[in-house]
Amino acid sequence: MRTYTCAKDLGDLKAAVNEAFEIKKNRFAHKTLGENKTALLVFFNSSLRTRLSSQKAAMNLGMNSIVLDINHGAWKLETERGVVMDGDKTEHILEAIPVMGCYCDIIGVRSFAQFENKEDDYTEKILNQFIKYSGRPVFSMESAIVHPLQAFADLITIEEYKTKARPKVVMTWAPHPKALPQAVPNSFADFMNEADVEFVITHPEGYELDTQFTRGAKIEHNQDKALEGADFVYAKNWAPFRDDIYGRVVNTDRSWTVDSRKMSLTDNAYFMHCLPVRRNMIVSDEVIESERSIVIPEAANREISCQVVLKRMLESLS
Ligand code: CP
Repeated sequence: MRTYTCAKDLGDLKAAVNEAFEIKKNRFAHKTLGENKTALLVFFNSSLRTRLSSQKAAMNLGMNSIVLDINHGAWKLETERGVVMDGDKTEHILEAIPVMGCYCDIIGVRSFAQFENKEDDYTEKILNQFIKYSGRPVFSMESAIVHPLQAFADLITIEEYKTKARPKVVMTWAPHPKALPQAVPNSFADFMNEADVEFVITHPEGYELDTQFTRGAKIEHNQDKALEGADFVYAKNWAPFRDDIYGRVVNTDRSWTVDSRKMSLTDNAYFMHCLPVRRNMIVSDEVIESERSIVIPEAANREISCQVVLKRMLESLS
């Protein structure tokens, strides 16, 4: 595997989930595979889970890991070609990326959508420069429009907890005070569309996602109706994708918050969220603290999803 940005990069998803389950049984089974190999984890944005789970996954495989926080201690990077660099940016990304590639074998990149230019975000301008210029296998650790490590961990979690062959999975928009990227819902939709589940998306009008990710998924604007009979409720906020309101907060309607009444409409569903989550905006205290909340095992599976990806990238090196 040379790049990891979407479900298709994993090939057969059932095989990938089975590989994850095998790793989960013994996460040190391949502890020599990464000997003398280094993962460089580059963060343009903050992280708790991705940072820790990626380092842990690398350690389980015997790899070294280096974390670079671009905004804390590195030179400020210029990303546009042709710019006269007489401002505060000291280094160009076109030198920085190949230099980073000199010190490692695999690179992970976290680089959120900027919401300044939709085309720049939706062409994955930063991530694709790493893919093009680093000379190394590159995986997204949540880039502008995708978060495939999260979505793979979500799928592993659903496969672990499901009690029906084909569960109903509802991804619901929920309110948030700030504009959040579409990366998590985009990748969740990408993975659910490839998985053996009944997938429904519910959101207010105006919050339609990019159809390259939602594809044929059922969209239901009535949240109560969408939640009926759900086996898994996946809550997430995202800012609009639509051109005229791209990346803006146009709705903070708290009637969309997932609370006990909403969960009572489901078939005793499990509650999921990628975290971090704002309580009593996205989800009520009662729901996230309930026995049906699986947000912690979901986060724990981030180590496993990353380990599958790193293992496959290491295998492609040899
Ligand atoms: N879910 C997730 O990616 O968490 P972090 O932003 O803390 O890495």
